[in-house]
Amino acid sequence: MFKIQTLNNISRNGLDRLPANLYSVANEVAAPDAVLVRSADMHKAPIAASVKAIARAGAGTNNIPVTDLSARGVPVFNAPGANANAVKELVVAGMLLAARNIADALGFVRDLDASGDLHHKVEAEKKRFVGTELAGKTLGVVGLGAIGVKVANAAYALGMRVIGFDPHMTVDGAWQLSAEVAKAGSLAELFAASDYLTFHVPLNDKTRGAFGAQALESVRPGIVLLNFAREGIVDAAALRKGLADGRIGRYVSDFPEADLLGDPRVIALPHLGASTGEAEENCALMVVDQLRDFLEHGNVRNSVNFPETRMARTGSARICIANSNRPNMIGQLSHVLGEAGVNIAQMHNASRGELAYSLIDVDSPVPESLVAAIASIDGILSVRVIGN
Ligand SMILES: NC(=O)c1ccc[n+]([C@@H]2O[C@H](COP(=O)([O-])OP(=O)(O)OC[C@H]3O[C@@H](n4cnc5c(N)ncnc54)[C@H](O)[C@@H]3O)[C@@H](O)[C@H]2O)c1
Repeated sequence: MFKIQTLNNISRNGLDRLPANLYSVANEVAAPDAVLVRSADMHKAPIAASVKAIARAGAGTNNIPVTDLSARGVPVFNAPGANANAVKELVVAGMLLAARNIADALGFVRDLDASGDLHHKVEAEKKRFVGTELAGKTLGVVGLGAIGVKVANAAYALGMRVIGFDPHMTVDGAWQLSAEVAKAGSLAELFAASDYLTFHVPLNDKTRGAFGAQALESVRPGIVLLNFAREGIVDAAALRKGLADGRIGRYVSDFPEADLLGDPRVIALPHLGASTGEAEENCALMVVDQLRDFLEHGNVRNSVNFPETRMARTGSARICIANSNRPNMIGQLSHVLGEAGVNIAQMHNASRGELAYSLIDVDSPVPESLVAAIASIDGILSVRVIGN
């Protein structure tokens, strides 16, 4: 039996993929084997030593102490792309909200005095909300991953010119991206060409403040800036300066900021990007399948800190080992196995940065003494035996 702790409400259809004869699932669990989480902040409380994996039903993992977990040899799984369509649709809505002054217009209608000639009031005031069309405008997309590619394609379908920038784009991403999306040689080129500018990059040391003072200097006056990635992507000072001097015409964001709440040029939504029933379900189905594959077979798919590692099962047991990625680890492992008289049927080893992960199928049961011997090798982060 595996014990799964849920830190947020996880879609029922996802949890139904955990068969009751193998899994118990609850909010409060002593010594859980794995944690299923959405946005709960896992930096705040210690993570039990029993935890073998964390599964995040979403894309971003800022709420999870990934570095600490890597040092413990614990994989963190996420659901890349599972909520991409939901975010894409809201970004399109965000562009339309800005282009057609929809939020202001809705506010005007909501506040109308219903008495008297409503038709006249509407017709007399509607010129205040005259907008522009998206067709023919240029959208700059920074980050062409799961969301960015979908946004770029959708904008092109709406008649926009689209220019993108992503120095690390995947081959899969390139296959999915419309051939009509132009490639910017640099961020400066993209900023200078864009009427609308949207960021779809993860928040990290390289992307924090990606829209900063320098970007502000190079954008077209009155640009519509969209941030459905993370608050820190747009530098606070540059944003306020740009709004004050009109360089930024509209800021459409999924991350409300206290001092901008009443600003008419700011359209802020309450972090709704992935908030659709479909996205939540997609995320849950995806991470639950990945978590099961790891707990039951040691396979790793879509982890943010472990290498992709998959191998069909053979032999009588499987040893799953995470270790520091340094020379002679495999040599030491095979020596310890040989000493214990355990034959390797097949093995697969992969590395990612400072971490390596091995699946070793063996022909005989693995005694506790062998597990202890493996764990005692300098550099071993975690060891687990399946199917003993
Ligand atoms: N608003 C929401 O509710 C919501 C929902 C989901 C995701 N997000 C945010 O959106 C981000 C993107 O999500 P995704 O699913 O598309 O992720 P992804 O990993 O599929 O794509 C991210 C892309 O950014 C690119 N990138 C990284 N650094 C870059 C840089 N410095 N310059 C240009 N490109 C760079 C990567 O190469 C990658 O292609 C997430 O990290 C998350 O923070 C927000």
